[in-house]
Amino acid sequence: MASVSALRQLSFGHLVSTEQVSREDMLAIFSVAQEMELVLQSGGMDLLQGKILASLFFEPSTRTRLSFETAMQRLGGEIITADGIQFSSLYKGESIEDMIRVVSGYADVICMRHPEEGSAEKAAAASVVPFLNAGDGPGQHPTQGLLDVYTIQKECGRLDHIHIAVVGDLLYGRTVHSVSVLLSHFSGVRFTLISPPELRMPRKIVGMFDERGIAYTETEQLEVGLSADVIYMTRIQQERFEDKSEYERLKGSYVLHADHLQGKKSVVMHPLPRVDEIDPSVDTLPHAAYFRQSANGVPVRMALLAMMLS
Ligand code: NCD
Repeated sequence: MASVSALRQLSFGHLVSTEQVSREDMLAIFSVAQEMELVLQSGGMDLLQGKILASLFFEPSTRTRLSFETAMQRLGGEIITADGIQFSSLYKGESIEDMIRVVSGYADVICMRHPEEGSAEKAAAASVVPFLNAGDGPGQHPTQGLLDVYTIQKECGRLDHIHIAVVGDLLYGRTVHSVSVLLSHFSGVRFTLISPPELRMPRKIVGMFDERGIAYTETEQLEVGLSADVIYMTRIQQERFEDKSEYERLKGSYVLHADHLQGKKSVVMHPLPRVDEIDPSVDTLPHAAYFRQSANGVPVRMALLAMMLS
């Protein structure tokens, strides 16, 4: 059975937002994730045998949920699960805090996705076991941010001096909020923020760029970002629009084609699911990294579970 080297203590007990994650935390998580890739090749390990993950998903999920559950099982742990608000006591009017207090009594670690921004903070405050935010509405998605930065390190071979073009729904896309905060810890990182004016990056995040002296440009033009080291595409977040006609007007704003990438070496990323932002003609290009990116969710979540439970 495989083993991993001593697990370093992280600076956070619950993972609610990437604002809690230091550069040292990130590098420690990535080094354990690298070891977890070897553990996966050898079929897993029993590090978390006897531990239970409560996997609570009150919004649709494929990758995040399945990779959390795979990660726990590859480490020898077990899963209990609840999905869909309509099938849980939240539907009966139970508060998030009460529900989490109860689940903390059943499980050793909890991950939760919920449609409300701020729900993860409430849940973490009520949890007596480590809690991980698996997406709180349009707020944050810290484990996705970590696997995104891990992917950039693997694909580009470095984290300093990265030029990243972030494209699409920067207002409601929680993954771009999380990855931006994490990347801003590295030197010489530069952002090109490409979105329709209505879907610009929240001022809170660009304010953080200003405070940390991070260079960024905001534009509506996809072409401006095509020479970046990383092109991070996102979908327009249909479910966040109160006015559906506004979504209809903005959907399809950006579609990346193989032609856009001719002669370029940009690594193409996307948290997935894609709707039509990346034409399938891109899929066979060597720098199309989005399926490798989603696979990285397993070793990164294994590292987090192992470190948060150790
Ligand atoms: C993202 C999410 O849920 O925020 N998906 C994911 O977790 N990989 C992105 C999205 O839904 O657009």
